[in-house]
Amino acid sequence: MARQTNPSNIAVIGMEWGDEGKGKIVDFLAEKADIIARFNGGNNAGHTIEANNKKIVVHLVPSGVMYKNKLNIVGNGLVIDPKTLLQEIKNLDKNGIKISPQNLAISENAHVILPHHIAEDRQAGSRIGTTGRGIGPAYTDKAARIGLRMQDFIDDSIFKKRFGEEEFYREYKGYAEELKPFVNDTAGIINTAIDNNKKIIFEGAQGTLLDVDHGTYPFVTSSSATAGGACTGLGISPRKVQSVMGVCKAYKTRVGNGPFPTEITGAVGQKIQKIGREFGATTGRERRVGWFDALVGKYAVMVNGIDSIALTKLDVFTTIDKLKICVAYKHKGNILKDFTTSIKILQNCQPVYEELDGWWDDITKVRSYDRLPNNAKKYLRRIEELLKVPISIISVGPKREQTIVARSEFLV
Ligand code: GDP
Ligand code: IMO
Ligand code: MG
Repeated sequence: MARQTNPSNIAVIGMEWGDEGKGKIVDFLAEKADIIARFNGGNNAGHTIEANNKKIVVHLVPSGVMYKNKLNIVGNGLVIDPKTLLQEIKNLDKNGIKISPQNLAISENAHVILPHHIAEDRQAGSRIGTTGRGIGPAYTDKAARIGLRMQDFIDDSIFKKRFGEEEFYREYKGYAEELKPFVNDTAGIINTAIDNNKKIIFEGAQGTLLDVDHGTYPFVTSSSATAGGACTGLGISPRKVQSVMGVCKAYKTRVGNGPFPTEITGAVGQKIQKIGREFGATTGRERRVGWFDALVGKYAVMVNGIDSIALTKLDVFTTIDKLKICVAYKHKGNILKDFTTSIKILQNCQPVYEELDGWWDDITKVRSYDRLPNNAKKYLRRIEELLKVPISIISVGPKREQTIVARSEFLV
């Protein structure tokens, strides 16, 4: 299928195990957008934005909040912890960012995380290394058809009937009242906006390999983090999503348990972790670090139908002498050229690497592709060749302005 240029809307998807820099890229793209709509996950996500001399981390609120006069939508595909959402709104307020029903709408069909979900996740989540936020148990209840939707939560006749006897009822009834003005028919709002040619960013959380269907199961989250999740998580037709942008890091990271074939141990890994400040935005945990994995990249391109890539954290590679790109896995004497979701194979394969030369010049102030060092360009070109997708954005630092647009036709 031909790539759509100058799209009205873009789904922004993590290509790996989360923390690719989606928050930074969504904030950058949001300047030209009318609506920014999150479609999956919960406060397991932490999306960092640095702009206007502020640094904020949003967990449930979409990454369009740094701008005035834009509507941020929390879609039906999310699970919402009402207590942390209200805290997040208050923290944003302290940072001078006012949240009201004018700039935030929450789907009436999003599900609610209750205290027993969190308690259960803290007990049962250690095998996977979950964030302990009650995500899995809340999605379990949703699938089992015993969950609580936002519209049921804010209707006290329903909420009381189901949970009136519980210890948390009074406290949570207060949260329901506070959140009531935000709850809306968000699918209707988005579809009307699409029909009126409004510009929309569909914001994914987590990443392709944490997707409950397409990730490294069971070491995944419980929602649909891939492009299809934008449709089910917001109530829009696949025919309405015009473009998909994959966010990927120059290297790879993973928090929590599960296989990671290109993981780097030793001094180089520690150096990248340190320069890249690879500590979780939500839990503060250390992120495991690995080399670029073209098999993961090609797989993400396939399951999401990625039109262009936003490559982040290229600056972190400055002063790393030799850069490796994994082009195949060796497993029991066989060479695998395609990614697999078999945990057995992923845990027992050896990556086959190509080696490229690094660069030593500081690139954090570079604002055009032409000014990048030749070796950085070679690295980017090799990724484009292997993944067969153009790189539209190159990020060279956490700040909004530390962004190079290489192919503007793929932006809204
Ligand atoms: P997300 O979950 O995908 O939104 O990503 P996180 O915010 O959890 O993690 C990405 C981290 O990298 C944050 O601390 C960002 O501020 C930072 N970051 C994003 N892009 C860049 C970049 O190009 N260079 C550097 N050095 N840091 C970046
Ligand atoms: P953003 O949107 C990185 C990981 C957890 C754990 C697994 C399951 O910031 O990229 P969960 O609490 O979802 O049941 O945990 O998924 N995980 C993330 N890792 N970034 C995230 O979100 C993540 N959300 C969940 O560490 O391994
Ligand atoms: Mg994150």
